[in-house]
Amino acid sequence: MNTYVTGATVKQLREKRNMTQAELAEKIGVSSKTVSKWETAKGLPDISLLQPLAQALGISVIELMNGEHIMNKNISANLTRSKFYVCPVCGNIIHTLGDTVVSCCGITLPALEAEDADDEHGITVERVEDEHFITVSHPMTKDHYISFMAFVAADRIQTAKLYPEGNAQTRFQLRGHGYLYAFCNRHGLFRKKI
Ligand SMILES: [Fe+2]
Repeated sequence: MNTYVTGATVKQLREKRNMTQAELAEKIGVSSKTVSKWETAKGLPDISLLQPLAQALGISVIELMNGEHIMNKNISANLTRSKFYVCPVCGNIIHTLGDTVVSCCGITLPALEAEDADDEHGITVERVEDEHFITVSHPMTKDHYISFMAFVAADRIQTAKLYPEGNAQTRFQLRGHGYLYAFCNRHGLFRKKI
């Protein structure tokens, strides 16, 4: 991940759109020599040019800066392709139905990769009337806690925000197959297949 646009990204995106350096230059009001300098790492586009540059290349500014062009094939979005992103600074939680570029507190967030629940993050499920009582055997101290739990099935998602010094428990309606997720602020994302 980059923190600013690179020449390689500009070149790659320009070529993908079958544009010459001169054509791109004209669109954003610079000379073709300037574009050539960017692409050969002899200069960087001024920040005021990022928006027009991204527009000319057909992507968003954040994608341009990260060198990633996201195009999801499943245009109707799909919960089974759910991704979670958590900001390490403010704790923001973002759930998406496909690949995306997400930024929070100035950081581009990676999609979290869930591991199977281990002994230290064991997820137990107990049926209580028409709901399920979910417990994670885990500390809930200020420094080390489960910050959210979620149940993702084919057609719905349920999320519960948890807080330090509370209980690592929640209730969900577990209808259908899916994954139960628990996010530990130190150890990351864990899941259990239901
Ligand atoms: Fe943990």
